Parts: sequence; C-alpha cells; structure tokens
Amino acid sequence: MTEAITFSLNGREVKAEQGETIWQVAKREGVVIPHLCHKDAPGYRSDGNCRACMVDIEGERVLAASCIRTPSEGMVVNTATERAARAREMVFELLAADQPDRDAHPDPDSDFWKWSDRIDVTSSRFAASAKPAPDVSHPAIAVNLDACIACNLCVRACREVQVNDVIGMADRGSHTVPVFDLADPMGLSTCVACGECVSGLPDRGA
Ligand code: SF4
Ligand code: FES
Repeated sequence: MTEAITFSLNGREVKAEQGETIWQVAKREGVVIPHLCHKDAPGYRSDGNCRACMVDIEGERVLAASCIRTPSEGMVVNTATERAARAREMVFELLAADQPDRDAHPDPDSDFWKWSDRIDVTSSRFAASAKPAPDVSHPAIAVNLDACIACNLCVRACREVQVNDVIGMADRGSHTVPVFDLADPMGLSTCVACGECVSGLPDRGA
C-alpha cells in the first residue's frame, strides 16, 4: 500500500491518500473551497477549467486549481490568502457579468448563486456578452444557455458518465458553447434524453 502524503493546509498538518486532490482533502478537513466546474460525485472527472477553487501554494509563482492539483510531501497550501481569495472573487465577478438578473434567473438557487452569496460577489463591473438563442427542438428538454458558464460539466456528463458522447464544446474563448453532435438542434441530435447533462450543473440547482 502506498504511503499517505503529509502536507500543511492552512497551517495544519493533514494527510492525503495517493491521487487525492487538495480540494478533496480540504473537504474532508472541513475547509470550504468554492467550486463550479468540479462536481463532487462519482464518475465525474475534475477538469480544472473554471478557476473558482484557486489556492496558494508556498513557493509557487501562480495559484493552483485545488480540484485537480494533488499535494506533494511537505507542500504548504493556503486557501485563505488575500491573493487566492481575490482571484476566486474575480472569477465569480467575471462569470456574474453573463448571468441573467437574479430576479429573472432560471434558477436563483443555483450553485453559482450560492457560492456567490457565500463569497459576497453578487454583481459585476463587466459587460455581458451575447447568448445563443434557446433551442426548443427536443420534445423533452429545452436548451437555454443564458446562464451557461462553459464549465464543460455537461460534456463530461454525456461523454464520460453516460458514455453517450453527444455533447461537445464549440468555438473559443468567451464564445465557447456546448453543442450537440455537429452543432445540430438537440431534437435532431443523437441525444437519448437520459437527463444526465441537466442535473447538478453549477448554473442550475442539483
Ligand atoms: S440528455 Fe442527451 S445530451 Fe444530455 S447527457 Fe443524456 S444523451 Fe447526452
Ligand atoms: S472547480 Fe476547480 S477549476 Fe473549476
């Protein structure tokens, strides 16, 4: 059996099993770190793309995404430095710019808004970008991307959890958007309506 790794988390000595991420150890130790693209559920691979979970690692020039970073022996990790907190706040503020007004939001109790409340970032100085038109071509599921943060969770849900491989991400940068097959309307795609991609997204409640 491989030995556990000992490292420091917010000044406390903690242990990680091989392969455990900083985020997983923090959760076990009762240290709360925001997360959006990481879904804490079986079968969901961490992707490290939203940067909501950034932490400070002593001696490292840049912050690390705790949902994909595994600790090493003797590492000193701080979740509460001003630099880490500011970086996480900026992520939420940038994402908030593209959210519908909370009063008109499809899910005002989404994980996104719960985390925003918790870190006290509920508005944005930045301009919103245009959103794709809703797709109501499917008889059972309407696709409305007005609150999408392009976290890629729906892709992992469809491709890796249900192994249907219908959804992919198209375009780049702030234009990145989930699409079905070759950007087909959902109702004309190979979607089998399993519903996995709809449940527990950060812009919607679980
Ligand atoms: S509902 Fe369709 S698109 Fe969503 S995970 Fe299931 S097969 Fe994929
Ligand atoms: S939750 Fe870690 S990068 Fe998104």
